[in-house]
Amino acid sequence: MIEFLLHDEKITLDDIDPNTTVLEFLRNHRQLTGTKEGCASGDCGACTICIVELNTQNQLEYKSINACITFISALHGKQLISVEALKQQNQLHSCQQAMLDSDGSQCGFCTPGIVMSLFALQKNQASYNRHKVQQALAGNLCRCTGYRAIDSAAKQALNSSVVDHFDPQEPSTRALLLDIQQQSAHQTTQLIQDNKSCYIPKTAADLAQLLIKHPQSTLVAGGTDLAIAVTQHGASFNQLIALNQVAELLEYQKTDQQITLGAALSLDRCQRLMADTFDDFSVLLDRFASLQVRNQGTIGGNIANASPIGDIPPALIALDAQLQLQYDKTVRTMQLADFFIDYRKTALQTSEFITNIIIDIPTKPFIFKIYKISKRLDDDISALCAACFVQLDARNRVLKIRLAYGGMAAIAKRAVKTEQALLGKIWSVENIAFAANCLSDDFQPLSDFRASSEYRLTVAKNLLHKFFIESADYDVTGCDVTASDNAEFASHTRIFDYV
Ligand code: FES
Ligand code: FES
Repeated sequence: MIEFLLHDEKITLDDIDPNTTVLEFLRNHRQLTGTKEGCASGDCGACTICIVELNTQNQLEYKSINACITFISALHGKQLISVEALKQQNQLHSCQQAMLDSDGSQCGFCTPGIVMSLFALQKNQASYNRHKVQQALAGNLCRCTGYRAIDSAAKQALNSSVVDHFDPQEPSTRALLLDIQQQSAHQTTQLIQDNKSCYIPKTAADLAQLLIKHPQSTLVAGGTDLAIAVTQHGASFNQLIALNQVAELLEYQKTDQQITLGAALSLDRCQRLMADTFDDFSVLLDRFASLQVRNQGTIGGNIANASPIGDIPPALIALDAQLQLQYDKTVRTMQLADFFIDYRKTALQTSEFITNIIIDIPTKPFIFKIYKISKRLDDDISALCAACFVQLDARNRVLKIRLAYGGMAAIAKRAVKTEQALLGKIWSVENIAFAANCLSDDFQPLSDFRASSEYRLTVAKNLLHKFFIESADYDVTGCDVTASDNAEFASHTRIFDYV
């Protein structure tokens, strides 16, 4: 049984297929048809709704998500606000009124989704900020109005200091959500219909036991990719285990030396946690799907998904990230670079799951850059993605280098031969030119509808040059050399003393 608030009504669901999406629930079970279905794959934003949840300080957080790719189990302990709840006593909500005043709607199909994205932004953002508005609306496709009018609506909605009918209800909403959470805090929630079920464990220990008991289960974290199997390919999962309420997987820790991210943290939360240490990671995340997907999708899900192009894996491999994996009570740690074995194949054993992603913060100075190449700037899948990390010693020689690429092979992986051609060498244009040619030894990329093999290889080489050129903007030489660095460095200097 799951419990959540639909607007201000408490809903208890027991007998429902766990493959049901939130969009289906709204439109087919509750006849709330204001939320539209466009693509049913998380690309158009017509189905945008707002989820309100308690954070660790028991404050309410408002998030826009795509109802079409969110399984119903994700609602447990949360408030669901759809567009029908915005208008009160014949008075439009300020976000709706702003769209009307700015001529922000023509055919109107995208409008409920856009209004809900604006509503979530209004709840989180004190005043208008163009970048934030673009981020919030990048996942809302409008085919007829044009975004200038919609941007004007955003300006009006965000610049007016409006108290809406949700504000006075917040204390009671908080109390109701707390009540639901406390009632089910220590027990696994279950949703079941006929032979289909979904477990929602609350602790890693319970999750581990469930996986041992049901080794064939399908794990669902945010579900932003898994749900597409249901909505686009007619799949139906018999046994799901949801990870989004497992307390340990939602924790994080940040010190001067290390960042530890729980596997079920949303991509948006990870972006905020990483932003001040690795600004390019944040820039990459700005271009990763849409805010609706980043609010729901998780970092562990993106890794376990093992897409050859997944964008996050190359970035984390270049940072030499580690994964913690748990089976029963046993936890093991491995390099993320070793996690991907073959196309969509990982080192995860049966009944094992990812608990944490650990990133050691490198000593300064270092350069870390990520380049995503896609046909659209926003909300698009990469043709390729390059993540480059380098540290130089006081004599401008390459002390450490990690070059990780996505979209160049069946898995995201390091360009080992190219790295070796640079390790110990002077960081110079001649050595970069030499090393760039080694990329064809590291990768033989496929041609597909996103890019040809030749294009991928050429661009991969160009990105290495770009990385070198951009490194001139940084004062990066003079990294301290440790004893172990010296040994590694010396061996490579001997082997690769070309220039
Ligand atoms: Fe297009 Fe959901 S219907 S994103
Ligand atoms: Fe027609 Fe936006 S108003 S798609």
